[in-house]
Amino acid sequence: MQKELEMSPLLEAQNVSKYFGAVTALREVNLQLWPGEVLGVVGDNGAGKSTLMKVLSGLYPPSKGNLFFDGMKVQFNSPRDARNLGIEMVYQDLALAGNLNIAENIYLGREPKRKYLGGFVSLFDHKLGLKMAKDHLDNLKIHVKSVEQKVEELSGGQRQAVAIARSIAFKARVVIMDEPTAALAIKEVGKVLDMIVGLKDRGISVVIISHRMDDIFYVCDRVMALYHGANFSESRLKDTSRSEVIGWIMGTKENVRELAHDRVQ
Ligand SMILES: Nc1ncnc2c1ncn2[C@@H]1O[C@H](COP(=O)(O)OP(=O)(O)OP(=O)(O)O)[C@@H](O)[C@H]1O
Ligand SMILES: [Mg+2]
Repeated sequence: MQKELEMSPLLEAQNVSKYFGAVTALREVNLQLWPGEVLGVVGDNGAGKSTLMKVLSGLYPPSKGNLFFDGMKVQFNSPRDARNLGIEMVYQDLALAGNLNIAENIYLGREPKRKYLGGFVSLFDHKLGLKMAKDHLDNLKIHVKSVEQKVEELSGGQRQAVAIARSIAFKARVVIMDEPTAALAIKEVGKVLDMIVGLKDRGISVVIISHRMDDIFYVCDRVMALYHGANFSESRLKDTSRSEVIGWIMGTKENVRELAHDRVQ
């Protein structure tokens, strides 16, 4: 990230607007995600965070503006187009199939040609699929009783872990997470945050939406705030504080209740 001036962002939105009928959800928003960085996106309810992520991951076409990947202009007609470039999104509701087992969820609906796993259809008749899922989870230090366990039997944290595992089962370069810790018990939050740090260690760039300053200040390199659908402010994490970021969420550049111990070292 030191070399920002010399390289292009891995993923970039330029002047992206999104309208839903009369509602303007995004107003000429700019976002850059640099290789290997974890970017936090904050903002009040309705600020446009989820909409921006859905544009970046190919679910919604922008009404105006452009997307760039690796410096090249791109247009996504579906999440599959984004996924083909290695952009994966973990949705707020996770989109896992509760009645299927962990292994099936990890490989669900993926095109065989995207990986060396040819012949997906018969994959789960085969011990190989289960072994691959187990190896993948072991690799990520995700502990489950069995990859044949149904997802509906898992805790919130385990489900989030499976959803993240699914997002990187193929060659992900960018993982976008919409409030991955919001629904979790406190003791599960840390594990998910450590998984996010693990993604960064693998060279994957991450965008994380969170309302929790503990999440933002634990995992992020940089944080940007949206306010009423527009860019409001952004900073490297080391140059800001929780109270400043909380201020941005509330639409002020003043520090909100700045306390000495809020200042990040
Ligand atoms: N599919 C949709 N159709 C119509 N309006 C929408 C749609 N999706 C989002 N909006 C509107 O766009 C605005 C931004 O919503 P968005 O979900 O992106 O906010 P958010 O920042 O993710 O909020 P939250 O923190 O509550 O998740 C809101 O006014 C919302 O009502
Ligand atoms: Mg949202």
